[in-house]
Amino acid sequence: MTRNVGILTSGGDASGMNAAIRAVTRTAASIGIQIVGFERGFDGLVNNARTELGSRAVSGILEQGGTILKSARSEVFKTEAGLRSAAENVRANNLEGLIVIGGNGSQTGGYLLHKLGIPVVGVASTIDNDLFGFDYTIGFDTAVNVAIDAIDRIRDVAESHDRVFVVEVMGRDNGSIALESGLATGADIVLVPELPFSMPDIITHLQGDVVARKMHHIIVIAEGAGSAEDLSRYINAKLPVEARSTVLGYVQRGGKPTRFDRILATEAGEAALLALAGGQSGVVAGTRDGHIVLQDALEAVTKRNLLKPQLVELLNRVSI
Ligand code: F6P
Repeated sequence: MTRNVGILTSGGDASGMNAAIRAVTRTAASIGIQIVGFERGFDGLVNNARTELGSRAVSGILEQGGTILKSARSEVFKTEAGLRSAAENVRANNLEGLIVIGGNGSQTGGYLLHKLGIPVVGVASTIDNDLFGFDYTIGFDTAVNVAIDAIDRIRDVAESHDRVFVVEVMGRDNGSIALESGLATGADIVLVPELPFSMPDIITHLQGDVVARKMHHIIVIAEGAGSAEDLSRYINAKLPVEARSTVLGYVQRGGKPTRFDRILATEAGEAALLALAGGQSGVVAGTRDGHIVLQDALEAVTKRNLLKPQLVELLNRVSI
């Protein structure tokens, strides 16, 4: 009898999702499992929007950003009826389980199905890096590299015009993109949702630099810590400097995955499929301490993935 496994990508897309789909599909093919893809995340599972994925269907996608299965933040799946019909469709399609590629909200959805008796294994994939138990999630490295490239360019302008630039990067609840892009570009100030800061302190910091004739500054702010536009307006009102803001936005989500994300996605995709085929459920595959691990899904979505303390300390030491 054919063995079938479902797969979907959900939530904000992340570069490397396609590499994960490819790894899952090819690993499955190597052990005689047929992959069934569902389009637009959990919406596709609720509506039974299915497509069969074979080894050839995933050719040439490893290096592509986005997701060939498309993604969505499903509202209908959040309802009791939506959850039930998603579970029914898994059974109706004769699937032995489901692979969920996504971040916090998506793995929460996977966990709910697992609680209903559907075998689910996740693949940790989100630019936000907000899943507990992993060093990095798929898409984070690409997003940070995009931010680094943009901030380097903005620094040229800041220096040429002696301006203060406030650059807003993505990250609703997690400041990892801000922290790592700020550290890698030598930002003067990095503002993240996890660490409290005061606006008057920012002004005092900038004022000291202005007195010392350092006129250009880069401030990186995570979207969850505040708005770049508001902060630059505040700085302009308080100091004799020219402040400008740039919101990087969705450029951080798309584009070709980095070497790191390609390999991580391939390793985690393989591990997730083998775990599901081996009878595991309620776990998420990703990387910790340089190894691929299967992290308990409930812990992954309920515990907070804290900023790396050694990087926060390093930033404080070198950003003067
Ligand atoms: O979760 C990834 C993310 O890009 C966040 O950093 C951001 O807050 C959010 O998605 C934006 O969501 P949407 O694409 O639904 O507007």
